[in-house]
Amino acid sequence: MFRLDQKAALVTGGGSGIGRAISETFASAGASVGILDLDEAASGETVAAIAAAGGRAEFFPCDISDKDSVEGAVSAAAASFGRIDALVNNAGIANIGTATTTSEEDFDRVFRVNAKGVFLCLQAVLPRMVEAGGGVVLNMSSIAAVTGLKDRFAYSASKGAVHTMTLSVAADYIAHGIRCNAICPARVHTPFVDGYLARNYPDNREEMFEKLSKVQPIGRMARPDEIARLALYLCSDDASYITAQTYEIDGGYMNLRP
Ligand SMILES: NC(=O)c1ccc[n+]([C@@H]2O[C@H](COP(=O)([O-])OP(=O)(O)OC[C@H]3O[C@@H](n4cnc5c(N)ncnc54)[C@H](O)[C@@H]3O)[C@@H](O)[C@H]2O)c1
Repeated sequence: MFRLDQKAALVTGGGSGIGRAISETFASAGASVGILDLDEAASGETVAAIAAAGGRAEFFPCDISDKDSVEGAVSAAAASFGRIDALVNNAGIANIGTATTTSEEDFDRVFRVNAKGVFLCLQAVLPRMVEAGGGVVLNMSSIAAVTGLKDRFAYSASKGAVHTMTLSVAADYIAHGIRCNAICPARVHTPFVDGYLARNYPDNREEMFEKLSKVQPIGRMARPDEIARLALYLCSDDASYITAQTYEIDGGYMNLRP
């Protein structure tokens, strides 16, 4: 169950956090993993960890918000692996602000990475999957796409775009044997969260960490490997009947009340 033997998967943002856990989990399930990331040092660590565990991974430097960079990285990965079976659109950036406190620059920056970045990766990978006769796309959305979170205006809007791109791709490519789903995590303990706390709460980081943990009814944040296992299932042939779905993985956040 849940194997990816002989398959190649591209993971954007595979250098850190959830993307790193997905890369490691996919490699241990037999996949060759292409890590598309801006951060060479962090991606190098992921590649080394996968190699040390006996898996195969390669780093392809990539800024997902830049069309030429994406096309170059995807071409290099396709040449190296000879196939692309799965694309995990995971890379994303955070932003704090309301509709009136978010600057135009921040809004554009968040959309360039979180929404346009997904679009550019889809444009580069989908024609190759169509030619190969199938594939699977998994997008990293967030509960921010499906509920009202305070002070996350641009971020939530960008994840809303990820949500609807998931449904469009599922509809447009179902006849080509391509499945497309999304995962919507609540808070996951990654450098994304640590960076947010360091920037915004330098004096009471631990107190805020505790507070953010308790927001999830289960009493803690998710671990990246818990998200990675759902990603593995959705990208494996065991999920062959699942498309156009968005999965909340949230420690009870959406459906339980205190
Ligand atoms: N951590 C959470 O609580 C949480 C919750 C819900 C959704 N998410 C989503 O999960 C995804 C991963 O989050 P994380 O917490 O692992 O983040 P992270 O900051 O730990 O890792 C993100 C990775 O993406 C890379 N990246 C950023 N911009 C890029 C670009 N333009 N091109 C290529 N790579 C780029 C970074 O270098 C980094 O390696 C994001 O899309 C995020 O919105 C995170």
